[in-house]
Amino acid sequence: MRRPIVAANWKMHKTLGEADTYFRRLMTLVPEVPEVDLVICPPYTALHAAQRALAGRPIYLGAQSARPEREGAFTGEISLAQVKELGATHVICGHSERRALFGEDDQLVARKVWSSMEHGLVPILCVGETLEQRESGNAWSVVEGQIAAALGELELSDPASLVVAYEPIWAIGTGVSAQPTDAQEMAARARRWLVARFGTIGQQVRVQYGGSVNRDNAASFLGCDDVDGALVGGASLDPDNFWKIAQAAVG
Ligand code: 13P
Repeated sequence: MRRPIVAANWKMHKTLGEADTYFRRLMTLVPEVPEVDLVICPPYTALHAAQRALAGRPIYLGAQSARPEREGAFTGEISLAQVKELGATHVICGHSERRALFGEDDQLVARKVWSSMEHGLVPILCVGETLEQRESGNAWSVVEGQIAAALGELELSDPASLVVAYEPIWAIGTGVSAQPTDAQEMAARARRWLVARFGTIGQQVRVQYGGSVNRDNAASFLGCDDVDGALVGGASLDPDNFWKIAQAAVG
């Protein structure tokens, strides 16, 4: 059995004060031993405060991105070592917004994934197709290309050290989610790829769905055989909604 993993991607939302209010509420909701891995990915500015607010609680912290280089002249960027120092255990790599708005290509995403693992951080590798690519029948070939670029050369000995998130671009922030059957089909294809590449270890790697997941539709995705969790944007900004979505992962 794969343990569900539900992650909140806050994107560029919340001041420190708002983050504090969120964590106070979340801590009243989450039991001592939840049956699901919870990951909160706040903006960098709230990571350290989050680490302190959640100390001793079974809630992981993730960065929304980070540079793979150790240090250097990268104005405005932050390194994997730095986000680790701030308490991150996970890192979102290759989110479609980073690919589209900040020009991140498959090579950079691959370096982020590899370097995350070298730092002992769990990469959440985001892959997904545009509507045009889906409508022209190329959804899987696009996603396969993204997966192969990031993971093709990787050595994987621990399935818990990697998460793959299938996030169709047309479903992100649009309120139009994929159909659960689409999510299942793509997650199953991703899993077949992982098994072909990593053998039985690939069978245990968790695959999330992301794109307009909310408290009303979460169960329909999280009930799919190959969908092991969700990567949630807008609906994760409210702690009650996020916790409801996480609960849907355990049925
Ligand atoms: P929404 O849940 O707002 O569609 O965002 C999904 C996403 O991009 C998570 O990384």
